[in-house]
Amino acid sequence: MATQMFEGKEHASCYEKYRFSPPQEIEDMIFSYVDERLNKPYKLAVDVGCGTGQGIKLLAPHFEKVLGTDISEAQIEVAKEAIKIPNATFRVSPAEGLPVDDASVDLLTASAAVHWFDIERFLKEVDRILKPRGCLAFFSYFPLLEINYKDRSEQMSKVYSEIEEILKKYQHEKVRHVRTGYKEIFEAIPYTDKIRRDDLFSKTTMPLANLIGLIQSFSMFQRYCVVEPENAKDFLETIEQRFLEIMEVSSSETEVEVRFRYVLVLASKPK
Ligand SMILES: C[S@@+](CC[C@H](N)C(=O)[O-])C[C@H]1O[C@@H](n2cnc3c(N)ncnc32)[C@H](O)[C@@H]1O
Repeated sequence: MATQMFEGKEHASCYEKYRFSPPQEIEDMIFSYVDERLNKPYKLAVDVGCGTGQGIKLLAPHFEKVLGTDISEAQIEVAKEAIKIPNATFRVSPAEGLPVDDASVDLLTASAAVHWFDIERFLKEVDRILKPRGCLAFFSYFPLLEINYKDRSEQMSKVYSEIEEILKKYQHEKVRHVRTGYKEIFEAIPYTDKIRRDDLFSKTTMPLANLIGLIQSFSMFQRYCVVEPENAKDFLETIEQRFLEIMEVSSSETEVEVRFRYVLVLASKPK
């Protein structure tokens, strides 16, 4: 069964605002993998579960055409409004039945998305649409973040661990794929040319308000809002306040450093 957790227009806007592109290292690893297997010019890339389209911006300069697909109409609507790139199109579509011709895709990506799909049906669809030697790249950041601020990093990360503990009960069971570094998904890929890395790290600086926005965009927080709307609202206000107290500042525009760990799976279809 496909999982629809990202339907709300408000959730989609939150995505547009607070989600960010993957680190340069991941982009470089994907393109050096593709460059070793395919000849340029590259014709088509498809980003599946594209959300509001951040990944499409990265892919567009390298391909004649890029297509972003997502099961959520709200996400695709926001993507179309936010991203006006001439060679990019967006379609509402389930990952398990893509509006793409057989053997036509050079690169298929899924960022923070593959764990939501029906893996068996999706991998069959991937095999149908990839060209011989066409590549797939599935990646995601782990839910556990490290938060640094001056000499207060330990306290900041401790608060984040408490946040995780509270939100865990609203976590969908499919998030286990991310926590286990996409191991099961990697094993299910029917190709021999494949690699999995779960030791990739990146740091980014953002205002505290954006960190709160990022937490707000998590599917487990969105679930909390549905089950306990009042508590979820209080929860966000309380965590922001706790961070501000630790930082001894009054403005949520004060920047913090957030450290992410990533998993990346790359594979290539046989000739
Ligand atoms: C965590 S978001 C990631 C969005 C974007 N790729 C990013 O990196 O920010 C997961 C996305 O997968 C989409 N999704 C979930 N299940 C899907 C399915 N079966 N088919 C297509 N998209 C799906 C959701 O609607 C959501 O936009």
